[in-house]
Amino acid sequence: MLETIRTLTTLRESVARRRSVGKRIGLVPTMGALHDGHLTLVDIARREADDVAVSLFVNPTQFAPGEDLERYPRDEDGDRAKLESRGTSLLWAPDAKEMYPDGFATSIEVSGPSRGLETDHRPHFFGGVATVVAKLLLQVLPDIAVFGEKDYQQLQVIRRLVKDLDVPVRIVGGPTIREEDGLAMSSRNAYLSDSHRKIAPALKSILDETGKNVLETGNASKSEADAAEALASAGFDTVDYVAVRHADSLAPVTQSEIEDGTPLRVLAAAHLGTTRLIDNINPRAAS
Ligand code: PAF
Repeated sequence: MLETIRTLTTLRESVARRRSVGKRIGLVPTMGALHDGHLTLVDIARREADDVAVSLFVNPTQFAPGEDLERYPRDEDGDRAKLESRGTSLLWAPDAKEMYPDGFATSIEVSGPSRGLETDHRPHFFGGVATVVAKLLLQVLPDIAVFGEKDYQQLQVIRRLVKDLDVPVRIVGGPTIREEDGLAMSSRNAYLSDSHRKIAPALKSILDETGKNVLETGNASKSEADAAEALASAGFDTVDYVAVRHADSLAPVTQSEIEDGTPLRVLAAAHLGTTRLIDNINPRAAS
């Protein structure tokens, strides 16, 4: 049975009750509009913990004015049905007042992996994410928390946050789940027009190509520039970045690091009309 909880007091009681009978709790933080990518994270949490809590909160502080906060897809009833079918125990669905009561005045800033990439284009984003994720972890006090690799920079920022603040939780990364044509699943894919939907899978194929190029040539900046050109030719309107980075720190890489087997990630963000898509791959893993 899925228990839907909207107040922190009830959440704490429910978590304490589960803990008192020795249950290990897994948390999957989400903003709802759940798809198979989220449900895979729920499956991972179920394997690793006894009870799964999913949070559903469209966090206003990670949207800049003019971004898609108002039109972000919402379907709580549909989400609840999906979670119930995947054996979720608890849905934590506070409103904005419960999460940010009057007088709220704290913000967490993570440096390191937050630098560049998303931050160059959405400077408000990781402050909002780090603060709400810290709150969610302190509210639910899970043993593990599962986040998707689709938002790879976010995952690295959260790993850093948990390490730096000694939060007693294990962060688990879940794989990106893709449509048959390679497009990474995302709640924002719903915004794509039919013609943009046809172009969108090129993001993954160009990332794969970029991964091969960089391993063959050792030249990150040339591979990045070629990828940006390929995205424009495929029909993307604006390319925010294509970047080859260290897989953990997300710092830029040198040719010798590319050649000596240092773990790498290739990340990209690009726009199709008003829809912004992000994706990333591990170039050292066969795709
Ligand atoms: O990835 C998301 O859906 C959100 O950024 C998160 C982690 C739930 C924080 O609001």
